[in-house]
Amino acid sequence: MADDGDRHRQSRLFTDDDGSFDAERAREESLPVEDGEVIDTDELADHQRYVEGRGIYDERNRVNDLTGKEWKYATKSVIDESYPPAVQHDLRSEHGGQKPPRLCADLIGQFSAAGDTVLDPFAGVGGTLLGASFCEHEGTGLREAIGFERTERWIEIYHEVLERENEDRHARGESPLAAQDMRHGDCAQLIEDVPDDSVDLLLTDVPYWHMDELEQTRNERRTRESKLGTFAGDANTEGDGTDATDASAKRETKNEWLADMAEKFDRFTDAVTQAGHVVVFIGDMYRDQSYEFLSADLARAIESTAPLTLIANLVWYDPTKDLHVYGYPFSFVPSMVHQNVLVFRLEDGTETDD
Ligand SMILES: C[S@@+](CC[C@H](N)C(=O)[O-])C[C@H]1O[C@@H](n2cnc3c(N)ncnc32)[C@H](O)[C@@H]1O
Repeated sequence: MADDGDRHRQSRLFTDDDGSFDAERAREESLPVEDGEVIDTDELADHQRYVEGRGIYDERNRVNDLTGKEWKYATKSVIDESYPPAVQHDLRSEHGGQKPPRLCADLIGQFSAAGDTVLDPFAGVGGTLLGASFCEHEGTGLREAIGFERTERWIEIYHEVLERENEDRHARGESPLAAQDMRHGDCAQLIEDVPDDSVDLLLTDVPYWHMDELEQTRNERRTRESKLGTFAGDANTEGDGTDATDASAKRETKNEWLADMAEKFDRFTDAVTQAGHVVVFIGDMYRDQSYEFLSADLARAIESTAPLTLIANLVWYDPTKDLHVYGYPFSFVPSMVHQNVLVFRLEDGTETDD
């Protein structure tokens, strides 16, 4: 990760004797911050070491392998990153809801350490799994990753992507990406095989509630609360890569979708270690002249059942996304060039059984 301290001033914790921002000190020291206080490096000498070219690493870091300097960069609440057509993008884009493996690698680097285990219960064509493998070559070390996916085609694509990518890497003289553990089936069942307290990071991208399926005219908008419409929970209409032909496909209201996700995340959380994190991609929607704040709804639903606390909503801004002029010249309609990345940590005192 690059340090862009030139564009973003360091927090005002880095102050000189007069209380003014001390840019030089911030740049030089990149002191770790704990509970809002700058820790004196003299006191921490036992715990800290300087990592050449990366800054000061504090060995008590339980969240990741980042130095203070890298951590500072990673605290930005907006991730400004284009989706590059890389890593066999053409093949993966058959899915429609695939995530950039390198963005996943960055998030994995932020919320886990080398050797940790990452779980993606809605793995699709494997953005998370590929990201975990990239960490071996472009991060601090390989993470083991487990993926669950119920559509066989997406699993085939993951394996084909890995094969092709490794052929390309071989041709470039680079070492291969590790194959990760992609399992076929329903996550609600497959999670039963994952021991409690064995996953350090759950990184996923949930199947969407499909408001597009809503048979709703403007006149019907008043009925929205009671009849939030239909959810082709498994129809490939919004590009989340679910399989419309899946026999288990069913239509759900938004509230049913939220309840289903909340129940699943409650179960998934049993597998996560006490110091672990749960990180979830979720886009909001604009439909029928109103904004569906799905990220907020999902965050509240998950918090209401799972022993998780929301600690951040990172906004992933993709500057290459197309803009549109749907509302012009009568009403403002946003061009959705962002997705949300909800970050949860386990609630204190919710130690799972040993
Ligand atoms: C939004 S996509 C994930 C895309 C993924 N991040 C990627 O990079 O390809 C959600 C995936 O969850 C899968 N899915 C939905 N319900 C599932 C379930 N109950 N068990 C396992 N997989 C499921 C869908 O088939 C879909 O591929």
